[in-house]
Amino acid sequence: MLPSVYAPKDFKRLHAAGSIVARCFDFITPHINAGISTGDIDRMVAAFLRENGARSSSLGYKGYPKHCCTSINDVIVHGIPRDDEKLKKGDIVNIDLTAEYKGFHADSSRMFMIGNVDSRAQELVQTAQDAMNSAIAVCAPGVPLSEIGRTIESVVRPHGFSVSRDFVGHGIGKVMHDDPQIYHFYDKKWEKVKMVPGLVFTIEPMINMGVAGCKIDTDGWTARTADGCLSAQWEHTIGITEDGAIIFTE
Ligand code: MF3
Ligand code: CO
Ligand code: CO
Repeated sequence: MLPSVYAPKDFKRLHAAGSIVARCFDFITPHINAGISTGDIDRMVAAFLRENGARSSSLGYKGYPKHCCTSINDVIVHGIPRDDEKLKKGDIVNIDLTAEYKGFHADSSRMFMIGNVDSRAQELVQTAQDAMNSAIAVCAPGVPLSEIGRTIESVVRPHGFSVSRDFVGHGIGKVMHDDPQIYHFYDKKWEKVKMVPGLVFTIEPMINMGVAGCKIDTDGWTARTADGCLSAQWEHTIGITEDGAIIFTE
């Protein structure tokens, strides 16, 4: 039995947590422009969550020091907000927010393009979002978890981009990270595990312009592409219903 299977009343709570995450994005979005520091973004996130009775699930998680992750350009995931790091024109940045509200966690990330961005970088950002949405669209009871990775690869492959294999989506609910792991690439081992109503998990494909591999900075968190090329990611928390899936974080 999968741990991240929840009752309808819990879906209401996940929706409440997810809606705070979505509204936090709406709150910060007008400010995500050239010149703002990632430290400023973190403070805005912290203030919004506090004012809405929520807290960051990331702060203190395995010693993580900030309220959100800010991953610029070649950073795949887990960039740490800093006061001495400012967004500049041409950057692509992922902001990843996970909030806990009344005991339930919701996790989402979005990409932001700062000023005019190179057309191939725009294609990368769009492809990552299309991959996530296509994967969400195949989710329904009885569908093997392996269909998620298969779908993402089928969207990404024609563009010549690669799918990061070092980080996965995850079950979520009363804890931020739970089983099952959600692979963003096809693996036969997930053929056997079928989605059931009530299953709650994230889909968060990380798509790289160059090679799939990564290296970790000396801070122990920041994961960069091995070749320095750009990376993009989008993430939603979803729940399996009787006939498909609902998105909690939009
Ligand atoms: N939000 C991330 C995810 O998608 C987890 C961040 S944990 C942190 O799973 F500690 F790095 F913030
Ligand atoms: Co996340
Ligand atoms: Co996640």
